Amino acid sequence: MARILSKEQLSADVYRMRLDAPDIARSRRAGQFVIVMADDRYAERIPLTIADADEASGSISIIFQAVGGSTRELASLGEGDEVAHLLGPLGTPTHVERFAGPEGTPGRVVCVGGGIGAAPLYPIVQAHKAAGNRVTVILGARNAGLLILEDAMRAVADEVIVCTDDGSAGRKDLVTAPLRELCSATGAERPAEAIAIGPPVMMKFCAETTRSFGIHTVASLNTIMVDGTGMCGGCRVTVGGKTKFVCVDGPEFDAHLVDWNSMIQ
Ligand code: FES
Repeated sequence: MARILSKEQLSADVYRMRLDAPDIARSRRAGQFVIVMADDRYAERIPLTIADADEASGSISIIFQAVGGSTRELASLGEGDEVAHLLGPLGTPTHVERFAGPEGTPGRVVCVGGGIGAAPLYPIVQAHKAAGNRVTVILGARNAGLLILEDAMRAVADEVIVCTDDGSAGRKDLVTAPLRELCSATGAERPAEAIAIGPPVMMKFCAETTRSFGIHTVASLNTIMVDGTGMCGGCRVTVGGKTKFVCVDGPEFDAHLVDWNSMIQ
């Protein structure tokens, strides 16, 4: 069991909860996730990236969208309630290194977050900043009301570019448009690495965009999970022609090697 320390609504169906989980807060690293069961009555396990953690208070933050029975059940809980089961940290942490630009300048990392993908992206942005990289964030959403964590990203990243489908915030563009512009840059402006987290189609097209520029790109996959420990096979994907399990081999993979079409199907 884990007590809910606070809950806030970030957009129409998106919530952030802070959970009392001192062991996870102490040991988690960027890119890792937890599995939450809101209630014993619902057998469904919900894999959620640890969006933030605070060792001092022994708490972790999760961000989720209430879209089905289990996530709606989770959303119905409030401060002081308890989630029935919390398992983690799971998954392989994000590989973070300090990239060197020309003449010792910090290397540039471009982080792309689509919709609720901004939540798992946030700790990665923090980790790349802490490593000494220059971080550019591209946030995309259908409209301004669905954008999350923009202020939090602005507080950490060197720059933030916002794109919406309807132009209600930032540029009226797909995230791949500014990504292509950034990848076209040379010298210190050229990204050393790109990270894309969001809907599979968005990640696929981010990978296609960076591929032609030869920029190493990482995607965090969000397949269906059951046990989260490599036993059920529910989360398998094909990466570089080999079968991988997102829960133990991932969730992050080389985006240029992921078989996006089979994953989307
Ligand atoms: Fe079962 Fe990954 S969730 S193998």
